[in-house]
Amino acid sequence: MYRDERIETECKDSFYRELNLQMKGLLSVERDWLPNLANAAALLYYQMDQVNWAGFYLVRKGGLVLGPFGGKPACTRIQMGQGVCGTAAERRESQVVEDVHQFPGHIACDVASESEIVIPMLAGERLLGVLDVDSPIRARFDWEDERHLGAFAELLVEGSDWEGLDG
Ligand code: SME
Repeated sequence: MYRDERIETECKDSFYRELNLQMKGLLSVERDWLPNLANAAALLYYQMDQVNWAGFYLVRKGGLVLGPFGGKPACTRIQMGQGVCGTAAERRESQVVEDVHQFPGHIACDVASESEIVIPMLAGERLLGVLDVDSPIRARFDWEDERHLGAFAELLVEGSDWEGLDG
């Protein structure tokens, strides 16, 4: 690894360590998934640099419905397999998209978005929804972010009770 890459990795490590600490604090006083996702979206939206949208799409009636988020109003329903979120949900695989304009079927909720990362949220075999973060700059996210945001999503899954959710 080159020196600049190492510094960038260390910066990301310490940023996400702090973010996870804040999330753990919030989860220690609440287990209901709804306020937990609302606070998680607020944390991501306000703490991450170069991010114009951060939030959740949740499984409902076989598709995805808009959940808590920070950013501009977004499309309310996404079918499985549709767009970046529907692809991540259907395949149960994270999507790290350097340039959303190159992603077939990308759904442009905010025209400012240039890159995007979507992480599926799984409780064992049960798909709960996806975590979605958008950026106005190209290639804002890499697989380091995926690893850290995956751990962040796992904290949320384990730290919340999911009664009342369709998925
Ligand atoms: N771009 C997403 C849609 C949701 S917004 O980014 C908030 C997609 O293609 O699934």
